[in-house]
Amino acid sequence: MKSNIALIGFMGTGKSEVGRLLAARLKFKFIETDALVEARAGKSISRIFDEVGEIGFRELEIEVVKDVARERRAVIACGGGLVLNKINIDRLKERSVIVLLTATPSVILKRVAAQAGQRPLLDVDNPAMVIRDMLKSRKPFYTAAADTVVDTARLTPHQIIEEIINRLESDESLHFQK
Ligand code: S3P
Repeated sequence: MKSNIALIGFMGTGKSEVGRLLAARLKFKFIETDALVEARAGKSISRIFDEVGEIGFRELEIEVVKDVARERRAVIACGGGLVLNKINIDRLKERSVIVLLTATPSVILKRVAAQAGQRPLLDVDNPAMVIRDMLKSRKPFYTAAADTVVDTARLTPHQIIEEIINRLESDESLHFQK
């Protein structure tokens, strides 16, 4: 059985906000892989990208996921590109139900614009186009990794956590046990 919930999805789909609420509701530990990468490196995500590029960042992310995957009763908000390395998902799946959050490109654009400077991959001249392209190329990775998918489009964060809890409790094929 699995007692962790790993939230995956593109940047700006609400993984951190939903994850924090979900963890509080279930009385689980809340973990963000991005925050652990920053703590391990002793610098911000943007600085890591500047200094060692995306490849260096992904190496750190793999190390963090290796540790995080051993947790129990945790909600894990995963960096948006963590799914690109299958080893991360294989490790997480041992103890975590993988929940994919989706949102439309326009909602994503709005959310990431409100948090400017925090996402080096979208720090570009035409973020709308980059978001659409990246969503398209990453879709197969998200779909393959997900045990269940929640479309966040018309739901409030509270409705999203209720939907997730509902599924975890009612769908036996997810093998979730608190
Ligand atoms: C990334 C998403 C970010 C962070 C890094 C790379 C990505 O996390 O890990 O900037 O490749 O999608 P969020 O999804 O929490 O923004």
